[in-house]
Amino acid sequence: MHARTQPSGDAHADGTIGSTTNEPVGWVSRRSFLASGLAVGAAAGLGPVGRTVAAFADEGGGELTRGDAAILRFLSAAEILETDLWQQYNELGGIQDGELPQGGGSKPYIEALEKLDEDMSQYIHDNTEDELSHFTFINAYLESRGAEPVNLDHFRTLPSSKATGARQVKRLTNLMELTVDTSYWTRYRSRTKNPDLGDSFPPAVPGLTKGKFPAIPRSDEDLKPEKHIQAIANTAGFHFGFIEQGGTSLYPSLAQRVSDPEVLRVLLSIGPTETMHFQTWSDKAGNAPPLTDPTNGLVFPNLNEAQPGLVLEDTKTNLIMPEPTVFLNRKFPVVSIIRPTNTEGAAMGAVKALTEDGLFRGQTPEFFRVLKELARAADAATSRR
Ligand SMILES: [Fe+2]
Ligand SMILES: [Fe+2]
Repeated sequence: MHARTQPSGDAHADGTIGSTTNEPVGWVSRRSFLASGLAVGAAAGLGPVGRTVAAFADEGGGELTRGDAAILRFLSAAEILETDLWQQYNELGGIQDGELPQGGGSKPYIEALEKLDEDMSQYIHDNTEDELSHFTFINAYLESRGAEPVNLDHFRTLPSSKATGARQVKRLTNLMELTVDTSYWTRYRSRTKNPDLGDSFPPAVPGLTKGKFPAIPRSDEDLKPEKHIQAIANTAGFHFGFIEQGGTSLYPSLAQRVSDPEVLRVLLSIGPTETMHFQTWSDKAGNAPPLTDPTNGLVFPNLNEAQPGLVLEDTKTNLIMPEPTVFLNRKFPVVSIIRPTNTEGAAMGAVKALTEDGLFRGQTPEFFRVLKELARAADAATSRR
């Protein structure tokens, strides 16, 4: 398969049968089967999956508007990318079971993650499964409404961690050279600022913005010394929050330009699960042990002490509920809200943030072109309600 731009300008990754040359056994193969099987089955009207989709389509509300399809396609791509990164976290730090059997786990990494919460492996597993369900559902829904699903398998070109526990397969995302923006931490603790009103926010962990850091062990060499693997687990802990706050904003931002009530329902039903993830991770990251990584000098400060230029309320770890802040216009009383939710350029903003995060380091120019086309099409959608 290949990704391409449609002549209509309504660009998307091609949803036809994907190459499985990089696909391992296990649930990724199952996912590929689902994505391909839906495409083939729906087209040919054959097979149990195809019949299910066809029946669903008969009951649906007809074809999507171009804008709704573009929004759903961008969200599907975002969820595929989320799944890819969470899958890497799960292989090394999550629970391997019948639901997500891939990977073998890395005991030293899991032990370091457990400093944040003894249930971290369960939460990583469940977040991974949620993302898998998000893109699988959105793709099936797109097809049921006569639109093409998204398949990014063509772009699985990045290497896996060499650490014991990781599968050796090609990836879409890179968790080994991250530059994590932790300004979400102070953004959700501010009573006076809102990114939608032009405000900016200092990072809680400034060191994470000043380099390229692994959030998973790159090899078994990274498993010691103890403060180094703990720094890697801490980086993961803050990265979990970064990823999920992005989804928390993306869904309400795009929902404002959806036309069909059922598509709106899809966005309003998936989006808050990202918020549930974010809330969990923002609680757990607060337990990351303060330390300095002896191998590279990365500092995780004690957030329960006032940091330079900040007041304690900007970073205190138990302040995990969204602080009421200004919304729409500073003339209104403060209100507890998701922030940002500005709809202008929201999809491209997400691409930019994930790119600056280092998540796509090593990806091909064609990957960025396709992702930006998906974002551009989503951002061009206008509501017909
Ligand atoms: Fe998701
Ligand atoms: Fe998510």
